[in-house]
Amino acid sequence: MLIFKTVPRLQNHLNKLKGERNMIGFTPTMGALHDGHLSLIKKSLHENDFSVVSIFINPTQFNNLEDLQRYPYDIKNDIKLLETLNAEIILFIPNSYEIYSGNIKSEYFEFGKLDKYMEGKFRANHFKGVATVVNKLFSIVKADKSYFGEKDFQQLRIIENLVIAKKIQTKIVRCKTVRNDNGLALSSRNSKLNYSSKKIATNLYKALNFVKINFEILEIINLKKKVIKILSKFPEIKLDYIIIADEEFLVPCSLKKKNIKYRAFIAAYVSGVRLIDNIKLY
Ligand code: PAJ
Repeated sequence: MLIFKTVPRLQNHLNKLKGERNMIGFTPTMGALHDGHLSLIKKSLHENDFSVVSIFINPTQFNNLEDLQRYPYDIKNDIKLLETLNAEIILFIPNSYEIYSGNIKSEYFEFGKLDKYMEGKFRANHFKGVATVVNKLFSIVKADKSYFGEKDFQQLRIIENLVIAKKIQTKIVRCKTVRNDNGLALSSRNSKLNYSSKKIATNLYKALNFVKINFEILEIINLKKKVIKILSKFPEIKLDYIIIADEEFLVPCSLKKKNIKYRAFIAAYVSGVRLIDNIKLY
């Protein structure tokens, strides 16, 4: 594995590879890697000649300092995990000066309705921060394909929109959510949960499955009421939202229309740790 900490050194290396007409895949992450991240990286390794992985905890996408400071960080373990893939990964670990040149601020982006609900509503300016860093990383790496997880479906749709709006020359590849044996979506934040909280957190996935199974039978309003009732039995769970929205515009709806692809989205604190998940309903 090759490790780069600065933009010029990384670009120097990538330019040589691109000069030889190699296909480059890119997976941006914030580290604390798990099998969810690894599934994106494996896909990239499979579909490209070379794969870049970035690890950068982006300050502008956190809406409070405490959340940023509590974000898990273990670069040694991340490197170990990446080495288990036995592939020639190009790892980019910039510091914040390398990315923001001393001006740690979000840029302005317009996403229409895509960032108005769900995470966009509950985490002010979160997606402006995500778009700012991803836009910068895209222009540094200039990959042929970039890999994002459906686990963060609203983020994925916003990045797809960003690439079209800014005419960025990279193909966004959607990757399925990786879950543990009990259905809990893998997340770096799960490392903050103890054994029993992890078990309780699987109820978020159970709630999403309940919506999926009953989507044809029940009205949306009743589905949501039932989920709220089921989850209220767990004092450790504090629900932020359960929302059903169309996949394209991500606008919450209360009536089902034909020929629309819907998804159910959930966000909740479990023992003080904020988790999100979603499931397709078709
Ligand atoms: P991070 O949370 O580290 O996630 C990096 C990528 O891994 C994202 O595309 C995310 O959707 C994907 N991912 C996380 N958990 C997953 C799972 N269980 N299954 C499948 N994919 C999963 O998302 C970010 O970082 C940041 O916002 C970033 C895009 C890097 C910008 O800072």
